[in-house]
Amino acid sequence: MAPRKIIIDTDPGQDDAVAMLLALASPDEIDVVAITVVAGNVPLALTAKNALKVCELAGMTSVPVHAGCDKPMGRPLVTAEHVHGETGLNGPDLPEPTMQLDPKHGVDAIIDILRAEAPGTVTLCPLGPLTNIAEAFTRAPDIVARVQEIVLMGGAYFEVGNITPTAEFNIYVDPQAADIVFKSGVPLVVMPLDVTHKALVTKPRNDAFRALGNRAGVAVAEMTDFFERFDKEKYGSQGAPLHDPCVTAYLIKPDLFSGRHINVEIETTSELTMGMTVADWWRVTDRTPNALFMGDIDADGFFALLTERLARL
Ligand code: BDR
Ligand code: CA
Repeated sequence: MAPRKIIIDTDPGQDDAVAMLLALASPDEIDVVAITVVAGNVPLALTAKNALKVCELAGMTSVPVHAGCDKPMGRPLVTAEHVHGETGLNGPDLPEPTMQLDPKHGVDAIIDILRAEAPGTVTLCPLGPLTNIAEAFTRAPDIVARVQEIVLMGGAYFEVGNITPTAEFNIYVDPQAADIVFKSGVPLVVMPLDVTHKALVTKPRNDAFRALGNRAGVAVAEMTDFFERFDKEKYGSQGAPLHDPCVTAYLIKPDLFSGRHINVEIETTSELTMGMTVADWWRVTDRTPNALFMGDIDADGFFALLTERLARL
């Protein structure tokens, strides 16, 4: 089977970086047509630079990287330096990138690719706030029906929230954009905190990355070393959750994940619960299902896949 064409829309972020490395290391299954960058974990200038650094770390400098939106659609930008460090990619000492950004804006890149490729052949993989995707859908409604699927990291039901008591970071940063995407009618696969909080980088798992001995393996171990201090303090967990790689792992091995096809709506008005993903997990409404909302992961299988693919870089 031909590899699946994807656009990664991202705000790197250590876990975004691991998600990108997994995709770039898996050319038999995944064809990364473009990477579009958005403001989120840190401001756009830093997420864009980090995306270039990660492509260079993977040795994949031919993938076009486009800077997209520098702020959410209707709210001021909220960032997460408290989790990711002031660069967004604290941990490894990666060289300044020599690779350049593609001059085309990320939103234009999404629109142009979807218009150029055959309908139903491009999957969008958002790993950050949904601003670029929603802007593209708003400016070019004709592209919406051309998207094969959106596989995204965002939201939570049982785990509720990580940036507020009721909201997950990616959805909270741009709830208006998330609302547009969740109402778009495009088939959605959602990796919420309910899944990603089970994808924990325990010490043996991180030792396995480091023991690969290649630049990517060591860099990933250093990223998660940094990233985990926050979650260990907060949740008392065994290690950092690798949120965003759940998206790219799903494209390679969907059977690692299980969930329910349900209705998910986004809270966009209440300041108290802004950005909450109101997921009808128990199917107590007659609202039309719009998302495959994941609830569980084979974590050992996930880390085995990740380690095997990082070894290829
Ligand atoms: C999400 O927020 C970011 O901090 C991570 O990169 C991930 O995409 C988790 O809530
Ligand atoms: Ca992210």
